[in-house]
Parts: sequence; structure tokens; C-alpha cells
Amino acid sequence: MNYQNLKLEMHGRAAVLTVTRPAKLNALNHRTLVELHRAFEALANDDSVRAIVVTGTGEKAFIAGADISEIRDQTPLDARHFSEHGQQLMRRIETMTKPVIAAINGFCLGGGLELALACHIRYASENARLGLPEIKLGIIPGFGGTQRLTRLIGRSRALEMILTGEPVNALEAEKYGIVQGVVDAHEVVEHALSVAQRLASAAPHAVSAILETVDKGLDMPLDQGLGFETARFALCCATEDMREGTAAFLEKRKPAFTGS
Ligand code: COA
Repeated sequence: MNYQNLKLEMHGRAAVLTVTRPAKLNALNHRTLVELHRAFEALANDDSVRAIVVTGTGEKAFIAGADISEIRDQTPLDARHFSEHGQQLMRRIETMTKPVIAAINGFCLGGGLELALACHIRYASENARLGLPEIKLGIIPGFGGTQRLTRLIGRSRALEMILTGEPVNALEAEKYGIVQGVVDAHEVVEHALSVAQRLASAAPHAVSAILETVDKGLDMPLDQGLGFETARFALCCATEDMREGTAAFLEKRKPAFTGS
């Protein structure tokens, strides 16, 4: 598939999807949002892909937000469509049944942080700055930031970030639990890719069961979530990979999962 603002590379079974608008610090304009949606749909349907890394081109920015030049002239109706479109993309990413890892290499602001928050795991470079600065433009986050950041780090910390619009640095983001690790600027994609490749070699039914159980369970009362977990646990036990994984342990060898 041809993209104008994205680059897609395969590294074994792990894909690296890079936003490539360096002149605008990889800001998400309409075209990039459409391309990202198409790319995630294609990656979801491609059985040869088992894990995905998302990043931005260059060392200065992951994604510096939604494209402000396109926001300025929106009518309220345009803005509603824009917000819904962005939210659909973020939900598509969040509900992927393959792990999606954000390699945050620099500015990760507004829609960039909202995209990162929709990923399953986030690693940041030492020079990363993460924030939701929409308040400074007289608007609020519209791609899920008010909801996902609050659920991730709690009401008061999220409100502090969203109300002030001030970004946090990588170490603060790690302390708050926004990112799961901070690495050297030159190594963040490599690090995310090594984790993605490890996850890509795991049993895919178990991986997708974990992602779905955690995602759906967060919106369920505990007993219902536990019931859902039991159902998915039982289903995993119907797979060849379960037989392979348990046999490999007992035979003291590495398992070779096939996805069956
Ligand atoms: N939308 C559109 N264009 C953007 C952008 C965005 N979110 N973020 C950066 N750009 C553009 C700049 O307009 C500039 O374009 P130009 O060279 O044609 O003028 C280019 O990217 C480089 O950005 P610049 O501001 O010159 O870089 P900087 O190093 O001085 O500052 C930032 C970097 C990230 C601090 C600054 O660009 C910024 O605050 N961006 C907006 C962040 C934001 O509010 N995001 C939420 C949007 S809802």
C-alpha cells in the first residue's frame, strides 16, 4: 500500500510504522489520520504481522499534535467529525489484537500523546516531552486525551497536565506511569522493536486474549471481568500452541508457536 505521510517496514514479524511529516513535526493532518486508519486496518488483517511499533520520523518529534492549521478554520460540525474521526483511529489502535508499542522520540503533544495513550505500551527517548497543550489554543483534547490520561494516571495528575497544558519530560512521564521506560534518544525505536519482536514470537491466541481481556475487562464489574478471563483462558487451552508451550517447558526446550 502507498502512503504519502507514513512509512511501513517489516522486521521479521514486527512492523514499524513511522509518521513522515518532519517539516511539520509529524503533526496529524487529515490525510495522515486517514492513512493511519488504513495502515492499522491492513496490519490487523495481515497474519504475518504479530506486533507493531509506531514512531515519528527524525529525532525531534514523535507527533507534535493534530495539525493546527486544519483546526483553525473548522466549523463546529467539522470539529465534531474531526474529533470522532480521531477517536475512531485511537480506538482502532487500542483494540488491536496484536501489541502496539509507541516509540516516543521527542515531542509527543496533543493528538500525538493521544495516539501514544491508545498504544498498549510506551517507551520514551530521554529528550521526549509529553503533554496535552490544547488549552493554550482555547480548545480541549478531542482524540480521547481527557479520558485515557485520566484513567492511566488518575484524576488530579491528569487535570494538572490538561489544565496547565505544560508538558512533562520523559523521567516525569515514567514516574507518572505514562511511559514504561526511558531510553537513549538513538535507541528508542530499537528498544521498542526488540520488545515487539519478543512479543511477536509469543503464542498469538494468548497475546490477543490478553489484549482483549484487559481492554474489555476495564469496562466491566470485577465478577464479569473474571468470567470473561475464564472463558478466554479455556479457549487458549483449545490451541495447539498451548500443547506446544506446556510440552516445551516439560521437555526443557524453547517453544515454537505456530498460531494454531
Ligand atoms: N500543527 C501544525 N503545524 C505544526 C504543529 C502542529 N501541531 N506542530 C509544529 N508544527 C509546525 C510549525 O508550525 C513549524 O512549521 P513552519 O516551519 O512551516 O512554520 C514546524 O512544524 C516546526 O515547528 P516549530 O514550532 O518551528 O518548532 P519548535 O522547535 O520551535 O517548537 C513545538 C516545537 C512542538 C514546541 C511547537 O512546534 C509547538 O508548540 N507545536 C504545537 C504543539 C501543540 O499545540 N499541539 C497540540 C495541537 S491540538
